[in-house]
Amino acid sequence: MCGIIGYIGDRDASTILVQGLKRLEYRGYDSAGVATFTEGTIPVRRCLGKLENLERLLRDDPIEGKVGIGHTRWATHGRPSEENAHPHRAGKVVVIHNGIIENYLELRAHLGKLGRKFTSETDTEVISHLIEEAVLSGRDIVAATREAIAQLEGSFSIVVMHQDDPETLVAAKSATPIVIGLGEGENFIASDIPAILDHTRRVLFLEDGEMAVVRRDGVTLTTFAGEPVSREPRVVSWDPVTAQKGGYRHFLLKEIHEQPQAIIDTMRGRLLQEEGDVSLDELAGCEWATNAKRITFVACGTAWHACQVGKYFVEQIARIPSDVDYGSEFRYRDPVIEDGTVVVVVSQSGETADTLAAIEAARERGAKVIAICNVVDSSIARRADAVIYTHAGPEISVASTKAFTTQLTVLYLLGLFLARRRGVVDAEAAAPLIADLVNLPSHVEECLRRERAIEKIAKKYGDARGFLYLGRGINYPIALEGALKLKEISYIHAEGYAAGEMKHGPIALITEQVPVVVLLPKDAVYGKSLSNMKEVESRGGRIIAVTDSPSAELEDIAWEIIQVPTTNPCLLPVLLTIPMQLLAYYIAVYRGTDVDQPRNLAKSVTVE
Ligand code: F6R
Repeated sequence: MCGIIGYIGDRDASTILVQGLKRLEYRGYDSAGVATFTEGTIPVRRCLGKLENLERLLRDDPIEGKVGIGHTRWATHGRPSEENAHPHRAGKVVVIHNGIIENYLELRAHLGKLGRKFTSETDTEVISHLIEEAVLSGRDIVAATREAIAQLEGSFSIVVMHQDDPETLVAAKSATPIVIGLGEGENFIASDIPAILDHTRRVLFLEDGEMAVVRRDGVTLTTFAGEPVSREPRVVSWDPVTAQKGGYRHFLLKEIHEQPQAIIDTMRGRLLQEEGDVSLDELAGCEWATNAKRITFVACGTAWHACQVGKYFVEQIARIPSDVDYGSEFRYRDPVIEDGTVVVVVSQSGETADTLAAIEAARERGAKVIAICNVVDSSIARRADAVIYTHAGPEISVASTKAFTTQLTVLYLLGLFLARRRGVVDAEAAAPLIADLVNLPSHVEECLRRERAIEKIAKKYGDARGFLYLGRGINYPIALEGALKLKEISYIHAEGYAAGEMKHGPIALITEQVPVVVLLPKDAVYGKSLSNMKEVESRGGRIIAVTDSPSAELEDIAWEIIQVPTTNPCLLPVLLTIPMQLLAYYIAVYRGTDVDQPRNLAKSVTVE
């Protein structure tokens, strides 16, 4: 996610802004910028890349002033570039923004008709123009901001400056965080506490739908509608490292908890609920995608597990034949690509060498390529014919969590999109499938509420020699993912197996020392899976069952039962994933491993 900082006081603003942005560097960013009030104007300095570049720019071309705003951008709309970096200006208005404006194309078209010219590809720029329009029609900066945000759909936190009002910063929040830091004769605004922790520990958190007018000598809170809000400041005791982790002990746990929001951000603007449809603008005009005769998924690691679930989506929902391969296999096996094959590559980083090479292999053989990626303008995004972005925000912990569940969200959307375009599913049939997706974030929240129970289970089984993970059908890849998460961060050997395969070999492993995690949804093979479990139990295996439907029979044989909410079978893999992540996390914590930086692993595997 992007980083926001604002300052109003008596010290040199650009120094404080850059310092604050440095405290947010851990969040990841691709460009940065600052703006300050200087002698009746607001000069802006922006650049691509690291903050060192911005510091160099400010050394060569300094800006003075005691009031200003700064931003680090993680690209969502428009590639990383100087033009797309924040702050964005429209006339006398300068704005920074975190989040996604869903209706920005509509607003851009409307503003274009008013003669407004745009200099970037961002959704943010429409905000500055909307505010400037309101100012020109006679509003002050506070009223103009209020009027502009009433037109915005999506998630945003913004900070606004106006050239004619150098004593005021206006902040507003909807869905993405804003915190106000209170000082003596100076005040701060930030997207996260670490940015201001060097200066103050007295803070006010804005709630959704609230605005703050921040001046040197005070802060006024109101709702978007202008109702006054009174709130006592809180004093944060976090040290800088805890603050970076949002108070969580590890980035991994923070990212696990960010999943409901990451899923919301990923589906934002892509659901046409009333029409029983989904929209993927990225595939507009791509007839080759909608007419695909086969979809071949290619990825590595966790993203490969997402592809395994994706295969079910395109087969079950869109009825398109599909297969899945590892990037490292696909690139060297001289694959036969038939006419009409579309290759879908999935990658969080967009830089994985094997996946990138697979794109070349696919294109050389005439296939079109869709990339599902989390990093805008990454190498994989650039090489593909079309890109659908997950909006998980930066994933810092090495083990992938929120990237995975947002990949599943996009793959589900892709399945629905193809099914609707091909006439396999009509609006009436699609409506409940879309409604289930809308409910998914709250179901994920419910899974997260099992955290304390899972922590206890982790302590009880944390000394095990190995683990077996079993699942069937669409949930088999989740068993693989559960095993991978455990291996990566706890260093316990774990294997994922298709439950029906257990008797063909792995059953020999079962002892009390090798607990068996079973994914057991109430589906057509529930009875069969229970029989498999009885085989485990009769050999002394300790069963940890994860299910949406506990039953007396299951209670008889399982040592532990973790319940998740019920949803449609295609979305259940997302819910079953959450206990897998929490179990791996708490076992790793119990064993005292380096959770965020597990040994021998890198976040982005850019070599073969
Ligand atoms: C596991 C994990 C890796 C990655 C794999 C692909 O937790 O993170 O298995 O999924 O290295 O990386 P991306 O998705 O960046 O291509």
